[in-house]
Amino acid sequence: MSRLVVVSNRLADPRKTAAGGLAVALAEVLNSTGGLWFGWSGKIAEGTDPQVHIQQAGPVKLATVDLNQEDHDAYYLGYSNGVLWPVFHYRLDLADFDAGYIAGYRRVNQLFARKLLPLLQPDDILWIHDYHLIPLAAELRALGCKHRIGFFLHIPLPPPLILAAIPGHDWLVKGLCSYDLLGFQSQADHEHFCRYIQAEAHAQDLGEGRWRVFNRTLQAGAFPIGIDVQEFAALTAATEGREMYERMKREYSRRKLLVGVDRLDYSKGLPQRMRAFRELLKQHPETHNSAVLIQIASPSREDVSAYSDILHELESLCGSINGNYGELDWMPVRYMHRTVARARLPGLYRASRVALVTPLRDGMNLVAKEFVVAQDPEDPGVLVLSRFAGAAEQLKEALLVNPYDTEGTAGAIQLALQMPLEERRARHQAMLENCRRYDVHWWCDSFLGALAKTQAEETGTPWLRL
Ligand code: ADP
Ligand code: G6P
Repeated sequence: MSRLVVVSNRLADPRKTAAGGLAVALAEVLNSTGGLWFGWSGKIAEGTDPQVHIQQAGPVKLATVDLNQEDHDAYYLGYSNGVLWPVFHYRLDLADFDAGYIAGYRRVNQLFARKLLPLLQPDDILWIHDYHLIPLAAELRALGCKHRIGFFLHIPLPPPLILAAIPGHDWLVKGLCSYDLLGFQSQADHEHFCRYIQAEAHAQDLGEGRWRVFNRTLQAGAFPIGIDVQEFAALTAATEGREMYERMKREYSRRKLLVGVDRLDYSKGLPQRMRAFRELLKQHPETHNSAVLIQIASPSREDVSAYSDILHELESLCGSINGNYGELDWMPVRYMHRTVARARLPGLYRASRVALVTPLRDGMNLVAKEFVVAQDPEDPGVLVLSRFAGAAEQLKEALLVNPYDTEGTAGAIQLALQMPLEERRARHQAMLENCRRYDVHWWCDSFLGALAKTQAEETGTPWLRL
C-alpha cells in the first residue's frame, strides 16, 4: 500500500490540541492512516539551508524545517496571510500587494520542494494542503518528482474577478493546475475555479470534473471537510468533557448560554456578532439577566496588522456591551482571548443553548460541526450559522443568517433561544446525520480515492519561472 505524505505549512503533534481547522483535521487523518507529515516547524532560525528535523509522533513521522526571519515574514506573514488570506476571503481592502512578498513565497515553496524530495519513496501519494503551498507541485515537478500529487484548499476560492486582482494571479492558477487533483471545500469554490480557468486560461472541459488546461489534464471537485465524529463524541462522553458540561450547567443554571469559539480572525465576523448580540439585548429585554454569550477567541497571526485591529475592536465592543447592559450579578458577554483545551470544548458546546458561527466568509468552519456532534440529541442546542460559511452548503437545517445584517442576525438568535424542543430535535438530527455521513474519514477516503484514479502526468514547468 502507498504511504501517505501530507504537506502543510502548519503541523500539530497529532496527540495534542491545536486551534485551526487544518491541523485538527490532518492530525485526525494521519492518526488513522500513519505516514509522513512535512512542513514548517513553527520556529525561526538563521540560515538559508535548514536541516530537516524528524520526530515520531505515534503512527506519524513529522518532518519539519525552520524558516529564517526574512522568509517567514515574506512567505507566511506577507504573501500567505497579507495577500492570499484576505483576497481569498473577499477582503481586497485588507490585502497588501507588496512586491517583495511573492519572491519569499516562491523561495519557501522551492525550499520545501528541495527538502521534501529526498524523503520520498517511489510509491508515495502526496497530498499538499492550503494556500501557503499552491506552487509546491510545480516546484517538485521542476526537480523531477513524478509522484501523483493532490491539493486541497482549506479556505474559499473567490470569484474570478476578485482572484484577478492579485498581481500574478495567472502564475498562481498555473501553479494550481500542476496538481493531478484539486479539492475545494464547497461547490461554490469549485465553480469559481472552473469559471476562472475557462475565462482566463481557455480550459477545455473534459467532463466529470476533468479539465485540459496549460497542456495537462487535471481533475477538480468539491470535497467538503468533516470532523472525526466518533472521536468528538467520545471526547464528549469522556470524564473531562462531562465535568466541563456539568460545571457549566451548574454555573449557568439560571441562564441561557450562547457560545462562540474561533481563532481571532477578521474573517470570523466577531465584531458583527457582538453587534448582533447587542441588538438582541436592545430589542428583547427578556434576554436581560438571562442570555450569556461566552466568546473564546484564540490568538492568531498577531504580527499581521489587520489582526491587532480586530482584537482592539472586539475588546472595546465586549467592554461596552457589559458596561451598558451588565448588572451586578449578570455580565452578558464573557470574552476570553485564549485557546481552550480540546477536551473541554465538547462540554462547553453541550451546555450551550445556541452556537454563534457567523463568519463573513469561511472555507468550511469545523466549529459548526463540532457543536452539532457534542449536543444531547434529546435536548439539543441550536446552530446559528452564516450563509457565507462553507458549512452552510451542508448544514441546511441550521438557522442561516447574513452576518452583515445586524437586525436579521439578532432576530435569528432570538428565534434560536425560543425554539421549541421538537423543532430543535428535528433540525439537530438532520445535521448530525450529515456530519456523520460526511465525516473526516469520508473526506480523506473520497479525496484519496479520486486522486488514485487520476492519470499521473509528468510535465516540465518552464512557465513557472517568473
Ligand atoms: P479555522 O480553520 O479558520 O481556524 P475552523 O472552525 O474550521 O476555523 O477550525 C477551527 C478549529 O480550531 C476547530 O477544531 C476548533 O475547535 C479549534 N479552535 C478554534 N478556536 C479555538 C479556541 N479558542 N480554543 C480551542 N480550540 C479552538
Ligand atoms: C486556517 C488555515 C490553516 C491554518 C489555520 C491556523 O485553518 O486554513 O492553513 O493553519 O487557519 O492559522 P495559522 O496561521 O496559525 O497556521
